[in-house]
Amino acid sequence: MKAPIIKCIVCVFLLVSCTSKKSPVEATVISPNGYTKIDFFLTSRGEPSYVVYYKNEKLIDSSKLGFELRESLHLSENFKIINVKKSTTDETWDMIWGEDAHVRNHYNELMVELEEHSELKRKLNIVFKVYDDGLGFRYEFPKQKHLNNVVITDENTEFNLVDDHKVWWIPGDWDIYEYLYNTTKFSEINALKYYKPGTHLGQTYIPENAVNTPVTMKTNSGVYLSFHEADLTNYAGMTLAVDTLNLKMKSELVGNNQNIKVVRDLPFETPWRTIQIADKPGDLIESKLIINLNDPSVIKDMPYFKPMKYVGIWWDMHIGTGNWDYSGNYHAANTAYAKKMIDFASEHNIHGMLVEGWNTGWEKWWDKKNKKIHFDFVTPYPDYNLEDIVSYGKSKGVELIMHHETSADIVRYEKQLDTAFALIQSLDIHSVKTGYVGRVIPEGEYHHGQYMVNHYQKVLEKGLKTQVVINAHEPIKATGKRRTYPVAIAREGVRGQEYNAWSNDGGNPPEHLTIVPFTRMLGGPIDYTPGIFNTSLKPYKEDNQINTTLAHQLALYVVLYSPVQMVPDLIKHYENNPALQFIEDVGVDWNTTKVLDAEIGDFITVVRQEKGTQKWFLGTITDENSRTLKVNLDFLDPDRTYIAKLYKDAPDAHYLSNSEAYQIEEKEVDSKTVLELDLAAGGGCAISIIPKE
Ligand code: NOJ
Ligand code: CA
Repeated sequence: MKAPIIKCIVCVFLLVSCTSKKSPVEATVISPNGYTKIDFFLTSRGEPSYVVYYKNEKLIDSSKLGFELRESLHLSENFKIINVKKSTTDETWDMIWGEDAHVRNHYNELMVELEEHSELKRKLNIVFKVYDDGLGFRYEFPKQKHLNNVVITDENTEFNLVDDHKVWWIPGDWDIYEYLYNTTKFSEINALKYYKPGTHLGQTYIPENAVNTPVTMKTNSGVYLSFHEADLTNYAGMTLAVDTLNLKMKSELVGNNQNIKVVRDLPFETPWRTIQIADKPGDLIESKLIINLNDPSVIKDMPYFKPMKYVGIWWDMHIGTGNWDYSGNYHAANTAYAKKMIDFASEHNIHGMLVEGWNTGWEKWWDKKNKKIHFDFVTPYPDYNLEDIVSYGKSKGVELIMHHETSADIVRYEKQLDTAFALIQSLDIHSVKTGYVGRVIPEGEYHHGQYMVNHYQKVLEKGLKTQVVINAHEPIKATGKRRTYPVAIAREGVRGQEYNAWSNDGGNPPEHLTIVPFTRMLGGPIDYTPGIFNTSLKPYKEDNQINTTLAHQLALYVVLYSPVQMVPDLIKHYENNPALQFIEDVGVDWNTTKVLDAEIGDFITVVRQEKGTQKWFLGTITDENSRTLKVNLDFLDPDRTYIAKLYKDAPDAHYLSNSEAYQIEEKEVDSKTVLELDLAAGGGCAISIIPKE
């Protein structure tokens, strides 16, 4: 139930005369707790600018705001302020599914209406929302006489830093986010070292030294910042160009090969440009800033989807024990294997099953150059009895997850969208994993440009109409859209588990997932696919391995958030392994989430309470260093006793040499208990904490 919205216009005043170009007119807005302050002003040239303070210290130095337009003068100077409005909002809304049952949305707003001095008197509004945990601002292009539409060739939103912060970053690739994070000083960011066309799944385009968002930083005084965007709708994705010499960042929108970034009719609003601000790294994760900056849900409920764990005919293809392709050696997507998987899932509290390689077209997957892609999203291979599998699954409480690998041939996919989703609907199943591997067709478009943003949106809307939830791989980044469209259940957009199976660069190092929660995950749920038990990957992949311990893999079900969590390993690696009990027990929908302790790139401890029960689940992981952590269970109900079941690294476990060694320990705990946990190098610990009957 929604709490009443308290929205009050505090003051509206018309600034009658502000003609002096020398004395900037200022407007200020401060967060509800008084810590974060934004000053807005016009420079002597009438350029809109802002400064951000946190606890009285400058956090973002004077930074300009504006646009370059094609066939029109830049919209960036010669402005006057014609109106300023301030208001406060304090509301609470419920998540249909999510990390927390209730979300508070509390901010102070400043809206500045600008008009050019010129004859055209073009107008631009800038809206700032200041929260206790950061801020967002966006541009509004209001309806006006002399501007009906725009072709944006550049958005010039500046973020000028005050110091050479420590930064966790990936390059500003226009096509893919699947990189390991770099940890460097801001002045040492060098995204161009990744610009080697054709080397990275054939997708790389990095036009300049820029980073993708969320990009996260730590200041010398210990404040954590993360820059991102919220509500990316009908606009281009934003990378941040980096000026390492002057410690400045500037928005660089993803364009197309015509150098067009955004085409829009007026009126419209841009996505929010966001800065999360936190004293502790865990507060970045607990923050709801990004999702709050999206519109409320367009639906009240979605009874057709419950958060779930899912198995899949998937890992086989990545470790080489199966093929997507029917004409190949061992076509994994066959009826017998699917039924075996359903049996396994139904015995272990797993309610979904993904099957890849079920449909015709995989034989020519890579033949993009010759435009021979012919994925068909309704025709199964002969050894895959779709209807039979769906009804067998239903009889066992396991629903099929449809798979659409579009190979980024958008033209082809959009032609088939209606029939593809009609088939899903006719089977009475409710989820699809989409994929966008490779270069975008039509040529000249990039995965993160406006054309693709609109495509991903089209699929969400189709899902909404047909009651189908979407888990997109090679997606556009998550920007909190799941609030408005709860069918947007998860995305990849990260270097996932699959890289451990086949990358030739050593796989994801142990520290990878101690950074991802503070960067990529701030955007929203991740389909990382945790839970590989055969971490050595023997005998399938002699040159690869998972660079974590088994206990670390278990802990990821809590550390990484997604309402769909895969249980990806081969059945035989789970069977008879007592650690499977944790996966069987762990929740996927939450009442509360807390980050108990963390340091980005070193370790993270997360605890979540399952929605609708009194059960808690705790996950903690470390990087390549072993460490001992004290974990205070004071979040527990003081009037209860609980049974904690700890899945922990064996004393001699190590991610390189003894990664599958773990121990299970059971003990009674309560809110006064402090656990001492020894994590191995690359290790972790997963704990279920269940009230004692
Ligand atoms: C890349 C996806 O990330 C992976 O999960 C999938 O198996 C392949 N594409 C094939 O669709
Ligand atoms: Ca991928």
